[in-house]
Amino acid sequence: MAFTIAIDGPAAAGKGTLSKAVAAHFGYAHLDTGLLYRAVGARTLQGAEPIAAAQALQAEDLEADNLRTPDVAQAASKVAVIPEVRAALVAFQQAFARRDGGAVLDGRDIGTVICPDAEVKLFVTASAEVRATRRHKELAEKGGTQSYEAVLQDVIERDKRDSERATAPLKPAEDAVQIDTSDLSIEAAIAAAIAAIEARR
Ligand code: DC
Repeated sequence: MAFTIAIDGPAAAGKGTLSKAVAAHFGYAHLDTGLLYRAVGARTLQGAEPIAAAQALQAEDLEADNLRTPDVAQAASKVAVIPEVRAALVAFQQAFARRDGGAVLDGRDIGTVICPDAEVKLFVTASAEVRATRRHKELAEKGGTQSYEAVLQDVIERDKRDSERATAPLKPAEDAVQIDTSDLSIEAAIAAAIAAIEARR
């Protein structure tokens, strides 16, 4: 039986960590939809045309190991503004969402556009400063050299572009449960997400 959990929110709010934990807890499959846009963004950095790159995207492309860099994140946010890029990625996401056995999808427009009928919708937020602090630590641990200020700028710029675009902007679905993780430990955020999902199962 299909059961879809949509998890949306701004950059570095902890959606990835939460989604993986929730998927593991319920035994559901997980799709980080940001990877689709990152894979297209990465192709454009190599000179590809974004719509053609989105239309040619293969599931294997999501496993490329260069998708987590700040440059690719910005390129992803830029290609994500283009309606034809978004349209080319809808079918893959919707098929994943309705697979048997349950699915967790995280992104920006899952609860609003991709899966408006998802059984559970969460909107995960945290202040820009908290998100930048977490992302800065994560990048530094991987050997990144960006300053905290640069990471904060990056997060603010991406949120602005993602929220203000005309097609499928970042915003909570009307029926989403909001979880602000600014003052929550990872364990507390996971517990809050699981409780919100249990309440709807
Ligand atoms: O979740 P992320 O940081 O990996 O996403 C990278 C960019 O991709 C994000 O800035 C905007 C875009 N994106 C989107 O427009 N819609 C989604 N469902 C997921 C990501």
